[in-house]
Amino acid sequence: MNTNSKIYVAGHNGMVGSAIVRELKRQNFNNIIFRTSKELDLRNFEDVKVFFENEKPEFVFLAAAKVGGIVANNTYRAEFLYDNLQIQNNVIHNSYLSGVKKLMFLGSSCIYPKLAPQPIKEEYLLTGLLETTNEPYAIAKITGIKMCESYRQQYGCNFISIMPTNLYGLNDNYDLQNSHVLPALIRKFHEAKINNKSYVEIWGSGNPLREFLFADDLADAAVMLMKEYNGEKFVNIGTGKDISIKELALIIKKIIGFEGELIFDKSKPDGTPRKLLDVSFLNSLGWKYKTELTVGIKIAYKDFLNKNY
Ligand SMILES: NC(=O)c1ccc[n+]([C@@H]2O[C@H](COP(=O)([O-])OP(=O)(O)OC[C@H]3O[C@@H](n4cnc5c(N)ncnc54)[C@H](OP(=O)(O)O)[C@@H]3O)[C@@H](O)[C@H]2O)c1
Repeated sequence: MNTNSKIYVAGHNGMVGSAIVRELKRQNFNNIIFRTSKELDLRNFEDVKVFFENEKPEFVFLAAAKVGGIVANNTYRAEFLYDNLQIQNNVIHNSYLSGVKKLMFLGSSCIYPKLAPQPIKEEYLLTGLLETTNEPYAIAKITGIKMCESYRQQYGCNFISIMPTNLYGLNDNYDLQNSHVLPALIRKFHEAKINNKSYVEIWGSGNPLREFLFADDLADAAVMLMKEYNGEKFVNIGTGKDISIKELALIIKKIIGFEGELIFDKSKPDGTPRKLLDVSFLNSLGWKYKTELTVGIKIAYKDFLNKNY
């Protein structure tokens, strides 16, 4: 990949896609193309086919997907399965048809079995049952990995997959119905502060351990792997460190400057007790995260304030 290569970033307005575009620009890539979902609905095979035939991108980052937190995943089960399968099928198959040199598929850590040993190695894929709340989304993502593998095996396509842990950063989703835990906590603490509330209620016991990676770090890893990694094995992307939801809440409380109490609603489900990716394969490829959680959360909070949610 050189700085003039034609690169299509699918999902460029999203948190991950926008971070990848920023990183590519930072590295002086100057031929990046993108479309919003209004301009090109990636669920439509014919439209995607015409786009690939006309534009002939050489490299594709597939960061477009229907994404959401636990409530959205569990409520819109059919949409999470259908939309994601359509988007992936259309982009991956048309990348093959139009001779794309290399494609990167963005998966997610929810592909792993609910009770996978911790930290989770890439090899644990398909060794047990999935978490039911996001099973449709996970099944779509697993299919995406298998498509990349199969197109490589049958057609010789250089299609790779990466599995990021929980992400946060610029352009995150702060809608309380659809968001992930970290942006949801930023919003809750911010609103509690400006409304002078005496407490913030947090779902569950606060004990579950989770891992969080700043989206710009993910983009840095994604661009490095697009340039240098050509293996069939998909790659976990994370920090290799986890933190309890309670500790996370205390960090966000401090950054936002909320003075009140935390109340843990133990009647709400905790989910898996621990979810941490084993990133030794990624580390062996020469990559390590850069942004510490407190630094990243400060940047994300500033972005949240600028966008006036
Ligand atoms: N967020 C996380 O914590 C996380 C963690 C691990 C992996 N990932 C993966 O990273 C990828 C991107 O996630 P994200 O957090 O960046 O999501 P996001 O902020 O919701 O962005 C998703 C993007 O996908 C595009 N999109 C959705 N449906 C589309 C359609 N039918 N046609 C064309 N474009 C469509 C949207 O485009 P428009 O804005 O133009 O509508 C949007 O910009 C996903 O594959 C996700 O699984 C995310």
